[in-house]
Amino acid sequence: MAMEAACVLAVVVVVLAFLSSAARGGVTSTYRRSLQALPDMPIDADVFRPPPGFNAPEQVHITLGDQTGRAMTVSWVTPKLPDSNVVRYGLRADNLTHTANGTFRRYSFGRKYRSGFIHHATLTGLDYGTKYHYAVGSGDTASARSFSFTTPPKPGPDVPYKFGLIGDLGQTFHSNDTLSHYEACGGDAVLFIGDLSYADNHPGHDNNRWDTWARFVERSVAYQPWIWTTGNHELDFAPELGETTPFKPFTNRYPTPFGASGSTRPLWYSVRMASAHVIVLASYAAYGKYTPQWRWLEGELRRVDRAVTPWLIVCVHSPWYSSNGYHYMEGESMRVEFERWLVDAKADVVLAGHVHSYERTRRVSNVAYDIANGMATPVFNRSAPVYINIGDGGNIEGLADDFRWPQPDYSVFREASFGHATLQIVNRTHAFYEWHRNSDGVKVVADHAWFTNRYWFPTDTN
Ligand SMILES: *[C@@H]1O[C@H](CO)[C@@H](O)[C@H](O)[C@H]1NC(C)=O
Ligand SMILES: *[C@@H]1O[C@H](CO)[C@@H](O)[C@H](O)[C@H]1NC(C)=O
Ligand SMILES: *[C@@H]1O[C@H](CO)[C@@H](O)[C@H](O)[C@H]1NC(C)=O
Ligand SMILES: *[C@@H]1O[C@H](CO)[C@@H](O)[C@H](O)[C@H]1NC(C)=O
Ligand SMILES: *[C@@H]1O[C@H](CO)[C@@H](O)[C@H](O)[C@H]1NC(C)=O
Ligand SMILES: [Fe+2]
Repeated sequence: MAMEAACVLAVVVVVLAFLSSAARGGVTSTYRRSLQALPDMPIDADVFRPPPGFNAPEQVHITLGDQTGRAMTVSWVTPKLPDSNVVRYGLRADNLTHTANGTFRRYSFGRKYRSGFIHHATLTGLDYGTKYHYAVGSGDTASARSFSFTTPPKPGPDVPYKFGLIGDLGQTFHSNDTLSHYEACGGDAVLFIGDLSYADNHPGHDNNRWDTWARFVERSVAYQPWIWTTGNHELDFAPELGETTPFKPFTNRYPTPFGASGSTRPLWYSVRMASAHVIVLASYAAYGKYTPQWRWLEGELRRVDRAVTPWLIVCVHSPWYSSNGYHYMEGESMRVEFERWLVDAKADVVLAGHVHSYERTRRVSNVAYDIANGMATPVFNRSAPVYINIGDGGNIEGLADDFRWPQPDYSVFREASFGHATLQIVNRTHAFYEWHRNSDGVKVVADHAWFTNRYWFPTDTN
């Protein structure tokens, strides 16, 4: 009897605890997982193995070569010799009828590292929504390698498209799980939210870890475009090594189609894929008033045409809304600079990383504040974006389990687990969003929401 009463009491307490947390707003998941950081996969791990054959092309990756995907830039590294800069491509794997000529470059880092021959070639004049086969490496030798990709469909308001959302990936065993889960969930392209290899966590920023990372992710990024946002781990600013040019490894290895959107630097730009206009911002380049990035974004928001691309998605590494103590408020100065613009523009989603956990917010804004009025509390605003922190790719630094209490009203769901998300745009009014934690089977969804478009179908929920 006493036992029964205790059980009932326990249930009541749990329900009350749940209700009070619901009243405050969001859910802090109680899911238990190991918080222990794992080291990077060993240098001889299977995922880092170079392809067979002398000087075989490796680290193959693609990204858009123009703003909408009628051009694709193919990049690869030949380790020993310059070899050919040519990409052969065509509609049939057995008949690569076209060629694109690229260039190569090398760079050094510190006193010890000299890169292989890094090739970039842009395939132009492609058709939308078409599968192309391509090969890199010299002609008929056994070392040539073949891949394929599908160009994004022609931009249009109701064109479905599925983005993978991955941030802060690194190259641990967790990173490998994240990539495998993303592959199983399937997407057409990845919005990568910054912090790629974490090479800078190794002594002397060991740039061999940039090479291993690129070999590791090739299994996805050679076959579909990844859209790159830069994070702090791309800075590689190391005066102690004589390296004072920020973003040197990143910019040598990962081209972006910045010129096509009128940007003057590879770090901020936009692409228009299917029904989405994706704006990439740089947390680690100047964004104050009158700077090149500020001026570009001001103009770019006027160029967004919601009649053609209804979904306005913004990618930035350092989050503007995060209730995790880790990196707390590091994105604040950029939020102050740009949040009003994004709310005025009715942006749908802002994706961030940097904090190694997962969080999704309500549609809130904090734009009423001026230095004298004290109105600094985020409030619901149906024009405001949802903020998603997806810095949970699984890197060497481990999880951020330092949530602030009480959970703020703006935070809907938060959990310190590794994982990835997908955003499946269905039509101009609806998109389905899912987050997957790695510790579950690949098909298990741990958080999900239907988003309605802020321009075509703004609702008060999501
Ligand atoms: C390859 O494609 C070209 C152009 O369409 C065609 O002329 C040629 O016959 C094809 N070759 C083979 C072997 O199919
Ligand atoms: C590529 O460059 C080589 C050497 O400069 C040249 O011979 C060839 O015609 C070029 N091919 C294309 C498709 O531009
Ligand atoms: C990484 O994942 C792939 C695909 O699941 C698997 O084949 C490979 O063995 C994994 N490698 C390591 C080092 O865990
Ligand atoms: C909501 O956003 C709109 C558009 O930016 C703005 O004009 C309005 O002041 C905001 N409302 C609140 C309560 O912040
Ligand atoms: C858009 O997709 C949603 C979700 O599948 C559906 O309910 C809605 O009817 C669709 N709208 C149009 C105009 O097709
Ligand atoms: Fe970061």
